[in-house]
Amino acid sequence: MRLPGRCTLKYVAASLGRRGVFASRLNVLRRNSWNAAEFMPEAAGFEGVSGRDELQEYSVSNSESFWAAVAHQRLSWIRPFRTVQDCDLSRGRIKWFEGGKLNVSGESSVFDCVFCRELLEMTCRVGNLLRRHGVTKGDCVTIYMPTCPLAVVSMLACARIGAVHNVVFAGFSAEALAERIRDAESSTVITVNQGLRGGKVTELKKTVDTAVQSCPTVRQVFVATRTDNPFGFLQLVNRKSNFVLQEMLKEDVVCEPAAMDSEDILFLLYTSGSTGKPKGLVHTHAGYLLYAALTHKYVFSYQDGDVFGCVADIGWITGHSYTVYGPLVNGGTTVLFESTPVYPDPGRYWDMVERLKINQFYGAPTAIRLLIKYGDQWVKKYDRSTLKTLGSVGEPINTEAWEWYHRVVGDGRCPVVDTWWQTETGGICIAPKPSDPDAAIVPGMAMRPFFGIKPVLVDTEGKVLTSNNTSGALCMAQPWPGMARSIHNNHQRFLETYCQPYPGFFFTGDGAFRSEDGYYQITGRLDDVINVSGHRIGTAEIEDCSLVAESAVIGYSHNIKGQGVYAFVVLKKGVEVQEADLVKQLSNIVSEKIAKYASPDFIQIVKRLPKTRSGKIMRRVLRKVVECDLEGLGDLSTLDDPAAVQEILEGHEKLL
Ligand code: WTA
Repeated sequence: MRLPGRCTLKYVAASLGRRGVFASRLNVLRRNSWNAAEFMPEAAGFEGVSGRDELQEYSVSNSESFWAAVAHQRLSWIRPFRTVQDCDLSRGRIKWFEGGKLNVSGESSVFDCVFCRELLEMTCRVGNLLRRHGVTKGDCVTIYMPTCPLAVVSMLACARIGAVHNVVFAGFSAEALAERIRDAESSTVITVNQGLRGGKVTELKKTVDTAVQSCPTVRQVFVATRTDNPFGFLQLVNRKSNFVLQEMLKEDVVCEPAAMDSEDILFLLYTSGSTGKPKGLVHTHAGYLLYAALTHKYVFSYQDGDVFGCVADIGWITGHSYTVYGPLVNGGTTVLFESTPVYPDPGRYWDMVERLKINQFYGAPTAIRLLIKYGDQWVKKYDRSTLKTLGSVGEPINTEAWEWYHRVVGDGRCPVVDTWWQTETGGICIAPKPSDPDAAIVPGMAMRPFFGIKPVLVDTEGKVLTSNNTSGALCMAQPWPGMARSIHNNHQRFLETYCQPYPGFFFTGDGAFRSEDGYYQITGRLDDVINVSGHRIGTAEIEDCSLVAESAVIGYSHNIKGQGVYAFVVLKKGVEVQEADLVKQLSNIVSEKIAKYASPDFIQIVKRLPKTRSGKIMRRVLRKVVECDLEGLGDLSTLDDPAAVQEILEGHEKLL
């Protein structure tokens, strides 16, 4: 029997006082809750499983039977799957639940909630609008919108008609947007006339107009009106048709859901890697949805009727998995947060917790560090008694931030779960929960693998480290349903990045430490990816922007942002500019080419960069200079010209 569900979207608009509440039933999961022993009901049939550790063990050593049981019981299938998995990590082949058909937005037979109906109706109307304008199964729709109900509706509408969505963070520049649209070969873009965030207006439609000029695949742009500001959206801009998204109101409220194969693509999401070109990670329907929903429920102890407050932007994977799909598939209530933690004042999050009675709050350490500076009074002003679990994501959470989050925000009574995962993993892979109720949580540690996840640490020679109290490259020894399947149009890069570095394993790009007790702590990226305010960015992307002869960008430790951007640049010969002008100019270029958050905090002009004799930039040396760790400079004998380091050190001191 299928239970009635009620999904709700609570929308906290950037402009105060405007709040819409929406809801719908996403027909994928049947709702279940932990039984008294806090174990999955699906686990009832697993032999010899009576505790959390046994279930974990069972889920990795009997992976097929674990995932088959969970997928059968928790997903609503239009047609059941034939095979559980067909995976070979060494060859980058990852397929789950083949033969099965489903649709995430299919309505259930019972509809008991007006809000559910409203979200479903909007989804159907937008689905019909897109279909009427020629968007068919497999077409890619780029969504360039702030976190708002119509953005979620647009994502769901794509899922309903079988189109692939490609959400691009609305802080990206026209150039970064265009690059993602072109790579995704998107035919359609959905945007808003203007965005509103932290009291500022952003010209999103204008950015789209600029971007689509260099995107030959785009036929049409749909514009939702987010502000009252009029603009000429009905005219033809650059031979691309423009339509008003609110035209959907003329559409029928019934839109037949496409029966999607388990392995059909649900979305592309671009993220940064070691090279300048962002990667369009591919996620598919069944496995992703199952994994997002399962982790959402068990990592956060989400119960029916809870209000889940994930404040991540939908432009990132956290917004996809824990603002949209996880909570909605679980028939839950989710909060859409469109603003910033300090607008109009630093009490914004906690005011929202009080007003919406949020039970689980999920945010980034960078915001916590920022809020600590404003003092406890902003938190204490509001009633936070509804909070049950606090989550952290995106970057390591330092002890001070963890403790403040726990002590001040959670009044010392809510577990803080530091969740480690990536765009590539689709959902949380390592987190303190689920665990036995009395198991301790170690501050600042992601700790335990989720069900079905088998982490391994590997040394530089590719040897698996079996002992505890050791560090290595974090890899996954087994596939799981939520993992990315490929990089759009570049499976070779997928293989090279994730499958080939440690054959047979999925390489995460991160390093980790395993404690004496066997718990995991993430130590940071092992590649040239840095993490600025929880935003992941490749140093090569920033280097590609500069109009200088040569540059090297590195991340350095920043007390709010986690990491800041430090750029060393070599000017072109004959260029005579004022240093201050150049710094401003280069910062503007990075903002225009990528996004504001990628803009360097420091730009140091140097005559030359430290290089090996074979011409490779010694980033290790640059990092040590910035960390002022002269003793750590190490062996400089392989440098082509060791004097370069002295020059750089002198310049660095002047800059500070
Ligand atoms: C980092 C965000 C430490 C890590 C969900 C990873 C973390 C990258 C944590 C993925 C954490 C994410 N502790 N580091 N709890 N969570 N990271 O794709 O380096 O935007 O590889 O996904 O963020 O960033 P992405």
